[in-house]
Amino acid sequence: MTCRPRLEIRVYEDVDRLSAALAEGIARLADRAVRDQGRFSLALSGGNTPRPLYRLLASAYRERIPWGAVHAFWGDERYVPPDDPRSDYRMARETLLDHVPIPPDHVHPFPTLLPRPEEAAQAYERTLRSHFSGCWPRFDLILLGLGPEGHTASLFPGSPALGERARWVTAARVRADPPLRLTLTLPAINHAAHIDFLVVGEEKAAAVAAALAERPDVNACPAAGVWPSDGKLIWWLDEGAAKALDGS
Ligand code: 6PG
Repeated sequence: MTCRPRLEIRVYEDVDRLSAALAEGIARLADRAVRDQGRFSLALSGGNTPRPLYRLLASAYRERIPWGAVHAFWGDERYVPPDDPRSDYRMARETLLDHVPIPPDHVHPFPTLLPRPEEAAQAYERTLRSHFSGCWPRFDLILLGLGPEGHTASLFPGSPALGERARWVTAARVRADPPLRLTLTLPAINHAAHIDFLVVGEEKAAAVAAALAERPDVNACPAAGVWPSDGKLIWWLDEGAAKALDGS
């Protein structure tokens, strides 16, 4: 484990051990948030890596988490209908949300049926502003994945969205399928109380090393721009994803 102020790197043998440890961490964060403020505001990640974690939260941890006080958001979404196989919302419903007693009005998906991505981004920002007081959203926890080329959420290398300093949510066109995306901006992510990257596989080792470099290039590796202004950042890695880190 590597510790710097606000940064921890935790390495596990495989995705199952990693997911079990992260599920325990999420349960403890949820307990503390509900005790201290009466709710736990969580932003889910998409992609495939979180599937074992979500299944664990819906099974072994189903009774450990106060689902009645949890609010589920997303850090990003593909601009596709909610029943599209590529939808992050659909993946989270299938692996987690349909299996836990979270109140339906506590599930806050991106409104991807609105006619334009920009409209959906603005509507989601309104949803966040009605949930969070203050000038930035303060999620209790944001889960993030990492692409092999360094993208996180739907912030991709070279994207104009990387320069956004005022908006909480923006639309983006990316070089991936599907190309139209909706995403939290870096400042919106960085105002979270806890940010957890969940990264598995040797094919991501170079991107992990680039994101944690001493002098990172955020335009080339957007994940390097994730750094909580007043919170904690933990990288949850399996041994493959940690391979290019010093000391691994
Ligand atoms: C998405 C995610 C994206 C994902 C990475 C890693 O909507 O796809 O938000 O940022 O976390 O692409 O995806 P995998 O876990 O499938 O490798």
